[in-house]
Amino acid sequence: MRPITRRGALQLGGLGLLSAAVGGTGLALGGGSRLDPDVGVELTEPETLRSADGALRVQLEAVVGRVRIAGREATAYGYSGGVPGPTLRLRPGDRLQIRLVNRLDAPTNLHVHGLHVSPEGNGDNVFVTVAPGESFDYDYRLPEDHPTGVFWYHPHHHGTVADQLFGGLYGAIVVEDAEELPVARERVLVVSDISLDAAGRLRQPSAMERMMGREGELVLVNGQARPAFAARPGERERWRVVNACTSRYVRLRLDGQQLDLLGIDGGRFAEPRRVEEVVLAAGNRADLLVTTAAGTSRLRALRVDRGGMGGMMGGSVSGDVVPLATLDVAGAETGAPPPLPQQPRPRDLRGAEVTERRRLTFAMGMGMGGGMGGGRGPGGMTFTVDGREFDPDRVDQSVALGAVEEWTITNTSPMDHPMHLHVWPMQIVAERGRPVDDIRWQDVVNVPSGGEVAVRVAFDDFGGRTVYHCHILDHEDNGMMGVVEAGRAG
Ligand code: C2O
Ligand code: CU
Ligand code: CU
Repeated sequence: MRPITRRGALQLGGLGLLSAAVGGTGLALGGGSRLDPDVGVELTEPETLRSADGALRVQLEAVVGRVRIAGREATAYGYSGGVPGPTLRLRPGDRLQIRLVNRLDAPTNLHVHGLHVSPEGNGDNVFVTVAPGESFDYDYRLPEDHPTGVFWYHPHHHGTVADQLFGGLYGAIVVEDAEELPVARERVLVVSDISLDAAGRLRQPSAMERMMGREGELVLVNGQARPAFAARPGERERWRVVNACTSRYVRLRLDGQQLDLLGIDGGRFAEPRRVEEVVLAAGNRADLLVTTAAGTSRLRALRVDRGGMGGMMGGSVSGDVVPLATLDVAGAETGAPPPLPQQPRPRDLRGAEVTERRRLTFAMGMGMGGGMGGGRGPGGMTFTVDGREFDPDRVDQSVALGAVEEWTITNTSPMDHPMHLHVWPMQIVAERGRPVDDIRWQDVVNVPSGGEVAVRVAFDDFGGRTVYHCHILDHEDNGMMGVVEAGRAG
């Protein structure tokens, strides 16, 4: 990790900002049973690895051991020694080759979340198992018309995805626009959460936490606790924000600054949208423009009610207001940023001919035995899609290559589930039965408790098998996942 700007460090101006960052809502971390984070240090970014001449080759070592988290030595996981792992910057048409080396004590693998690449062979194949001590060479080829935006990578070995991601295994991927937008600078902000004890060791979640979807006690930005950074007034920055939390949803606010949302996940809007806040379910990303005004602003994650088990097992999860970072805007005003070029018009499947309609039901149940504790999942619950738990040897949805399908996803449970489909992005066309009036492409779509969402998917290319699942990764590990296979014609 290295500091993002030296100038930033100078502009922080010493102790004032530090004490401001430590004040506010207080640390809420006492008793010596939790890690005492080093708060308010200068924001750093993970190392950036950039493709050249259409190619990027990377070695990622998944390690367990001593890594630096929240400014302290922790015993956790990391890719090549860092939390987050390096940021990969690519362009459409690139070839990305990653050698994943497993130095963990358990099997793992790698998933490039949101990339539109083949799920087969040594592509984005989540059925691969890389045993401890072994390595695997992934080879991804991005099509020339690959969406631009912010993506990410993380392990996807069924049963341990939540544990490994929570422990520190994640990193950002940026697919750059053909023509960069005029900005003073870009920042990659990876939001994650983790629970560490006072000695810096990972805390294991309880069965209840796994049932609800664990939320870490420390919420980090680029592996730091409430870092601080600086800008001059009138600057336009582009922020690539990843919600890499295992389960937590974040409602981002940055009061006092102008926010224009370019898109969510790989889904660029037709025009940037002026917003007050951005809600990211677990796994979502934001491509955001921030135009600065003088003053000190807090980047905060406000509480999101994602449901709960009612009176039965305690209320909903998610913290209240979590301070994430501090932006200090001071100094001489810069000139107004140049106008943004016209954005490319996104594809719109709302008028497309739908070749197949499906209904998928996400549910939580008591399991075969009936009654509390009857299920074999945490808290005695089962986590299912269409009444079944994940089986890698079963194909749940068989689609024809070239099809445009409409999937209506229903959630009968008392909690929200963020539904994620690999390889093929989803266009949201209706929510709670009402058509949406804009073009929204995402790869993680929240399906609210008791609600439903309809999405359209164009299975234009890439045959093979992959998965869709709840991106509350404890739910995914406990079975809330299915297999989709896109078949070649003939
Ligand atoms: Cu972010 Cu199937 O994963
Ligand atoms: Cu994914
Ligand atoms: Cu879920």
